Amino acid sequence: MLSKCREGQWRTEDLDWNRPPPEMSPEKEMAVVQYFTDMAGIERLAAALFEEQQSRAEDPVLAEIFRTFVEDEKRHARCAELLAAHYDVHRLKQYRQNPVLLEFGHHFVRTLRYLSAEVATVYVTVGELLLDVALLRSIDAFVDDPMSSEVMARINRDESRHIAMDFYMTEYYASPEYLAWLERQPKPSARQLTEAFWAFSQLSLHARPFLRAIFLDPMEAVDPAGERIAEAFARYQALIDRPSVRHRPIPRIIHGTQWLASRPRMTPVAERVARVIGLPRQLLFPARRPSKPSADAVRGAAAEVRVA
Ligand SMILES: [Fe+2]
Ligand SMILES: [Fe+2]
Repeated sequence: MLSKCREGQWRTEDLDWNRPPPEMSPEKEMAVVQYFTDMAGIERLAAALFEEQQSRAEDPVLAEIFRTFVEDEKRHARCAELLAAHYDVHRLKQYRQNPVLLEFGHHFVRTLRYLSAEVATVYVTVGELLLDVALLRSIDAFVDDPMSSEVMARINRDESRHIAMDFYMTEYYASPEYLAWLERQPKPSARQLTEAFWAFSQLSLHARPFLRAIFLDPMEAVDPAGERIAEAFARYQALIDRPSVRHRPIPRIIHGTQWLASRPRMTPVAERVARVIGLPRQLLFPARRPSKPSADAVRGAAAEVRVA
């Protein structure tokens, strides 16, 4: 993977930015420039995440892989800014990143150090699937221009390495090797537990408005049938359905909440839980019917109801 990461490096200057942008209506131009402005913010958030993963990695090869990912994400952010400038032909307004993105980013970076690497990986994996499988492809189809397509093709190649590692890390955090390591760690103090709980609740509180404003709302405009977003969530669902992964706490809570949602009388409760834990509707009501979860999963979901 590390040699793939090294071989896959490229520079923004490798692309020809001087070609003329296509004619667009004022509405389309404003939408496109805003998408790329927000995309720059998401990519910088991804860079901050991988910086955190890099600092936690004990294996030097893993740390080096994450370092290349930080480089990738910073390059993607720069590309998004260049694309925003490229399509901002008529200077129709001043573009700023969506305040919801800034708000979530602020909490995310601040609370990241309190989260376990396993929980942080859940956010990375869902975020990258949504960004790569759904949002970027849809924006590219909407823009429909070779400049954007060329940039997106390169970004997609980088992102497929990231997603491969996200899946690998998710399986690692469910492996006997990691669980044995976890066992050997000193038990967290009451204060650390309180801080971690606070961090997680803050993040959950801001996760849903962030997902809605940055991923789901733009997706409704550029992919009205919702096919790509369904595919992104289906890929995450397939990951947490793997027997090796489904026993971990977050997959168990998700499965438990899905099981509640599939019982007509319990659906409002499940919806309330989903709001509290920041679970998007597409994951609350997956395409396939959830199997009966373990008693632990139901207890986990019930505990969330009590918090709510
Ligand atoms: Fe990226
Ligand atoms: Fe990425």
